Amino acid sequence: MKSAVILISGRGSNMRSIVAAETGLEVKAVISNRPGAPGLEWARSQGLSARVIDHKAFATREAFDQALGDEIERLSPDLILLAGFMRIFSEGFIRRFPGRIVNIHPSLLPAFPGLHTHAQALAAGVKVHGATVHIVTPALDNGPIVIQGAVPVMPEDTEETLSARVLAVEHRIYPQAVRWFVEDRIEFSGAGVVRVRDSGVSTDSLVSPRERP
Ligand code: GRF
Repeated sequence: MKSAVILISGRGSNMRSIVAAETGLEVKAVISNRPGAPGLEWARSQGLSARVIDHKAFATREAFDQALGDEIERLSPDLILLAGFMRIFSEGFIRRFPGRIVNIHPSLLPAFPGLHTHAQALAAGVKVHGATVHIVTPALDNGPIVIQGAVPVMPEDTEETLSARVLAVEHRIYPQAVRWFVEDRIEFSGAGVVRVRDSGVSTDSLVSPRERP
């Protein structure tokens, strides 16, 4: 059985989609860097261990990362799933858990890294937008891509309508990626490319998560 620690900062809807998907993943704990994160309450209501490590209690990014990393190491999960975790890690933290940190980013990477991705997409006038599940490497929003989900951009879209459409696809692709990890289908080839053995998806690009239940 594969296990994970899920890191959140806010409402935790991606965490909920992962837990609700019943992939067989053992969630060892949910950790938030913000004491008031609404996702914590939900995690507790599901009987999950939900904890806070408040980044504001630490003088430096490195000190927070050290404490968080120590806590994670004690739990010894296979995976660290970032689900709306709004802190940038120091390189030391990422090197401590190579290939084991997974993130969801609300754009079709490598387009629109960083914040305000939906506003960036609208400003660029792209006609297709989406979300990406990727492995975290020291380069921000740039690690090997596991799965992407695409949505159309409508002429009348606002940041709100577009983000809602993308969020729905996030809730499909993150559980799908987790399922592949649980089933041990994820392989890294050279040059940082992820391959999924027998993914059940009809294209190499893994753009369409729809075929899977
Ligand atoms: C999601 O859009 C995620 O892609 C981004 O932050 C948002 C978090 O939402 N990194 P939630 O906390 O999972 O509901």
